[in-house]
Amino acid sequence: MCGIVGYIGQKDTQEVLIEGLKKLEYRGYDSAGIAVFTNQGLQISKAKGRIANLESKLEETPLVGSAGIGHTRWATHGKPSDVNSHPHTDNSHKFSVVHNGIVENYLELKDELIAEGRHFVSETDTEVISHLVAREYQGDIVKAVQKAISHMRGAFALGVLTEYEPEKLVAVRQASPLIIGIGEGENFIGSDIPAILQYTRNVYILNDGEMAVLTKDSVELMTIEGNFISREMIHVDWDAVTAEKGGFEHFMLKEIHEQPKAYRDTMRGRIDESGKKVVLPELKLTKEQIKGISKIQIIACGTAYHAGLVGRQAIESLVRIPVETDVASEYRYRSPIVTPDTLVIVVSQSGETADTLAALREAQSHGAHVLAITNVVGSSIARDADDVIATLAGPEIAVASTKAYTSQLIAFYLLSLYLAEVRGTQTQDEVARIIAAMQALPEQLENMLAKPDAIKAYAEQISKHEHLFFIGRGLDYAVVQEGSLKLKEISYIHSEAYAAGELKHGTLALIEEGIPVIALATQDAVLEKTVSNIKEVSARGADIMAITHEEHVVSLLKSVNQAFAIPKTLPLLTPALSVVPLQLLSYYASLARGNDVDKPRNLAKSVTVE
Ligand code: F6R
Repeated sequence: MCGIVGYIGQKDTQEVLIEGLKKLEYRGYDSAGIAVFTNQGLQISKAKGRIANLESKLEETPLVGSAGIGHTRWATHGKPSDVNSHPHTDNSHKFSVVHNGIVENYLELKDELIAEGRHFVSETDTEVISHLVAREYQGDIVKAVQKAISHMRGAFALGVLTEYEPEKLVAVRQASPLIIGIGEGENFIGSDIPAILQYTRNVYILNDGEMAVLTKDSVELMTIEGNFISREMIHVDWDAVTAEKGGFEHFMLKEIHEQPKAYRDTMRGRIDESGKKVVLPELKLTKEQIKGISKIQIIACGTAYHAGLVGRQAIESLVRIPVETDVASEYRYRSPIVTPDTLVIVVSQSGETADTLAALREAQSHGAHVLAITNVVGSSIARDADDVIATLAGPEIAVASTKAYTSQLIAFYLLSLYLAEVRGTQTQDEVARIIAAMQALPEQLENMLAKPDAIKAYAEQISKHEHLFFIGRGLDYAVVQEGSLKLKEISYIHSEAYAAGELKHGTLALIEEGIPVIALATQDAVLEKTVSNIKEVSARGADIMAITHEEHVVSLLKSVNQAFAIPKTLPLLTPALSVVPLQLLSYYASLARGNDVDKPRNLAKSVTVE
């Protein structure tokens, strides 16, 4: 997820672009850049790090002109660096492109362009676009962009300028958001409304497969095939702060709703076109190394650790390699047994967690190959690990992690399927069956997110309690541990997550009349046993809410006070759906208690102390 802004008009272009980028910094903040038409032609300035770094550069060498494009980056292809920052250009420096999204076939296109004699300077997929547009240009920038994108697969939003037609700014939307802002004698583009809100409230929202050609006095909308379209202009009346959250009250809720997109982005380009195989071209781990793995250790903290618990079950069931899971702060002090044929997987949203980084180094010191699953490509953990699988959830702003956790699950499923294929532990049909179910997850989740009312009402009910319990078996146990952490973290309600079968070994003493118990009962293989455990707490007067599949609601309602149904997927994939009602429960309970949802007390987004 990156941020794009573009301007054409009489204002100070540099200032409009920088102000717009600041509003989009939540979409990415590892580097930023702008391109402006100046009286010396198209000039580019870019800098690694926060927008402030770019501003310092521009203070020394301002770019003065009447049209420009800007970008704030969240690295996906190539580490954060000045050269990988956008805008990108071609070898003639006459074209400039900003891009949000992923060009899936960029390696093929890059080889083709190199064979034609073009030189690349960055590691990005975006640079391919600027070379393609330059190659296709025959006096008409709109046609050149259309031809260029006809070669591209994937999700992208683009802003394109050429020195040959300085009166035009071309914008494209293909599965990545883009809006057009309409002013008087000036027009704008932006990845999101906040980017332009201080200048205009009149916008067109582009749909997938559409583009716009802006001059200072006009905006033409068309499909990417060139058919003109008309669109109703929208007048936005939100304030700027709400706009930054995309209309949601909090970043956490916005990020919960971004999960279907995060699933799609994390899977994109990692499943081959036949739908029968996972491809992980980024892995350095060779097939020979994979065949020689004798043990896997998964190490992480907090929510990322909980993703690792699901990862363990995915790997063990699909690949049949023994997996240990460790909380990072404990790992190196337990004198772990690590050999060169141990694969160590560290999981971290931020990639900066000190405990996880220390565990990574400990594992490497024993000769293990360390694979990081992280959301921040240029982070310390990504840099130090031997291999990286990036979760493409985009920046997570709320302290309570939601979309990063579920994207980590998707990364674990992909990795497990890849390892299974290399080691021959699953048939191709079984892999295809799991992939098909994974591809259905985003839509299933969208349907579930459209109906939050039952969970909201239940959250208001539990917000009046000080203690509660979560129970589940197998994968449900892994998920309730995450549900319990989320609830504690932002609602400050004390909760315990218990393996449902373990309650009777002591904790049952705490179950008394009216105490809320949330039972996750989605794993059919252990459902009967879970129901027995539900009956144990029900007999002691607990007020039970069950989360299950539609087909079990009626029978479960004989033992529980209320039940909430989630869509059905394969048991192994269920955590990617079943955690979401628990995230919403925490969110609404926190809200009902009047807490600061996005910035809970005593916590930080990135924990860089051991
Ligand atoms: C929970 C939460 C923390 C983090 C933990 C690890 O919502 O945010 O438990 O999951 O501090 O952080 P990362 O994943 O950045 O290593």
